[in-house]
Amino acid sequence: MSIQQNLNTLRTPVSNAPEKSPFNAGETLTKQDRKLRVLLLGSGGRECALAWKISLSPRLEKLFVAPGNGGTGAYGENVALSPLDFEAVADFAAANDIDMIVVGNEDPLVAGIFDYFAQIDGAPLIVGPSKAGAALEGSKDFAKRFMMRHSIPTARYQSFTAETIEDGCRFLETLKAPYVLKADGLAAGKGVLIIDSLDEAKSSLREMLGGMFGQSSATVVIEEFLKGIECSVFVLTDGNGGYRILPVAKDYKRIGEGDTGPNTGGMGAVSPVVFADKEFMRKVEERIIIPTVNGLIAEGITYRGFIFLGLIDVEGEPMVIEYNVRMGDPETEIVMLRIASDLLPLLEAAAAGNLGILPLTEDPRFATTVMVVSGGYPGSYPKGKVITGTDAVTDAILFHAGTKRDAEGTLLTSGGRVIACSAYGKDIDEALANSYAAADTVDFEGKYMRRDIGQDLKKLSK
Ligand code: AMP
Ligand code: GLY
Repeated sequence: MSIQQNLNTLRTPVSNAPEKSPFNAGETLTKQDRKLRVLLLGSGGRECALAWKISLSPRLEKLFVAPGNGGTGAYGENVALSPLDFEAVADFAAANDIDMIVVGNEDPLVAGIFDYFAQIDGAPLIVGPSKAGAALEGSKDFAKRFMMRHSIPTARYQSFTAETIEDGCRFLETLKAPYVLKADGLAAGKGVLIIDSLDEAKSSLREMLGGMFGQSSATVVIEEFLKGIECSVFVLTDGNGGYRILPVAKDYKRIGEGDTGPNTGGMGAVSPVVFADKEFMRKVEERIIIPTVNGLIAEGITYRGFIFLGLIDVEGEPMVIEYNVRMGDPETEIVMLRIASDLLPLLEAAAAGNLGILPLTEDPRFATTVMVVSGGYPGSYPKGKVITGTDAVTDAILFHAGTKRDAEGTLLTSGGRVIACSAYGKDIDEALANSYAAADTVDFEGKYMRRDIGQDLKKLSK
């Protein structure tokens, strides 16, 4: 099948999807398989990609996305619900016979959506960790202590509060520049400062503990700077020792080419990742994934969902930079392309606590995504710009992030990251050419993209 034909099936809703397209090559529906009614929570590019993948499943009866965006409506029904309003989510789930809730972003998980539904009789299955498990992302201090308890390789660190500022300054003096300061709690991806001068690091520590990120920086983790190249490893676990490793991806966080300028939510991503070879992944599984999955069980923490390991390759040795308790964005926008299996039965099995022998197979092709963003992002940027060209895109799939439709159905920008242009290729160059052709076709006033996605990986010889 040509790439063009593949991408046509890629946009086809499940009811018309050929059972054996490379995009739903997982299980074939059998009569006794119950079809599922699914509610997906979130509104970004990640949720658009999850919605697309779930929509291809022969096991799906009906998909709702709350609140969704200007693109998710192609794969399910958008519902105006806040994922943080658990009562409203529960009412909707009950009224609509929802079998399973897939939680896309971290906020509802950290706020305890899993625990909320655990108290309700006959509640839907939830894909995601309990509140205790979500602390792996919700508290960097908790995550570091967890890694220490389970001997998981990570940077040397200490945590400080307003009472221990002076100890924090002394700890900084024992480290070499650059200095890494992290707000303990969620800070919308902005809570990590990497600072070259010792004096500036000390004053930033004082500012953080003084409320720079509100309550999130009431505790600050200071850690050793690790030098290496990063990648994102995703694991789906059932909380009972079963897990599957998803295709590995690398994202590009900085706004500027050559990884310069401020951090963003992510400007593009590539999968597979050349340095995450068999030997590296063996180390990741033995030293990080298994101790994490088993450590959660040993500590009595219920965790049935995605674990996102932000890893750094320090001269061939994987170390954990951070845990997240959800899929990555924009990594999901390519990881979903690279999962050949039907994802829905895997999500159901993980949420039910038994992945059993369900396979998770990978598509051998490369996948890349290029994010087109609003001019000014990650600073302030205009919204409501008319988006054109989406219908003219051929060899790529557009996962909408910050888009919405007005009353007439016109597509408008509504966020900093606007559309992830995802594509396959037989190699990285072909995938990138397809992603960039799409990114050049989509248009709106002030559009910006990074032109160097994937170029660093091409330089690696390993
Ligand atoms: P985090 O929010 O913990 O992922 O940190 C944001 C980014 O800061 C990471 O993706 C890394 O690029 C960088 N970073 C965090 N911790 C370290 C570290 N110990 N050494 C080097 N870079 C780091
Ligand atoms: N792409 C990194 C993240 O989702 O946190």
